[in-house]
Amino acid sequence: MHGNTARMAEIVARGAAEAGIKEVKVYDVAKTEVSFIMSDIWKYKGVIIGACAHYGSMFPNMTLLVHEINEFKPKDKCYATFGGMSWSGGGVKTLAKYAEEGKWNLVTESVEVKGAPIREEDWDKLYNLGKAVAEAVKG
Ligand SMILES: Cc1cc2nc3c(=O)[nH]c(=O)nc-3n(C[C@H](O)[C@H](O)[C@H](O)COP(=O)(O)O)c2cc1C
Repeated sequence: MHGNTARMAEIVARGAAEAGIKEVKVYDVAKTEVSFIMSDIWKYKGVIIGACAHYGSMFPNMTLLVHEINEFKPKDKCYATFGGMSWSGGGVKTLAKYAEEGKWNLVTESVEVKGAPIREEDWDKLYNLGKAVAEAVKG
């Protein structure tokens, strides 16, 4: 809605791309149907999920996506999560719950950003998250 998660995703994607990943795809669950995103999750080794806080949890389309991941359990993935919040959060916390339930191979710590990713510290954490997944993917 405010574009903060999309801004964060661009920073993460840049971190992955500059660490040598040639194909980096960024999807918005509010714009792309979950089954299309899921079909790419099967194809790629690195899967980075970002969720904003929505009524103490996640945006419903994102809930659907992580539910699908945990139903289908795609193998040999390198996961990472990040997200945004404005007051008490909920997106990152809910992602952690799904990650635990689905036994995701999380290759780095989650990053939670308050508001827009304008602070240098947040920018660095998001960029490094993308880089960490890239390194894990390259092996
Ligand atoms: C309907 C709605 C519910 C929200 N619920 C929460 C919440 O429970 N906790 C919180 O910290 N922020 C909450 N927020 C703030 C959003 O996480 C914040 O606006 C975020 O930037 C939205 O993501 P986006 O910029 O990617 O659209 C809510 C915002 C909206 C519009």
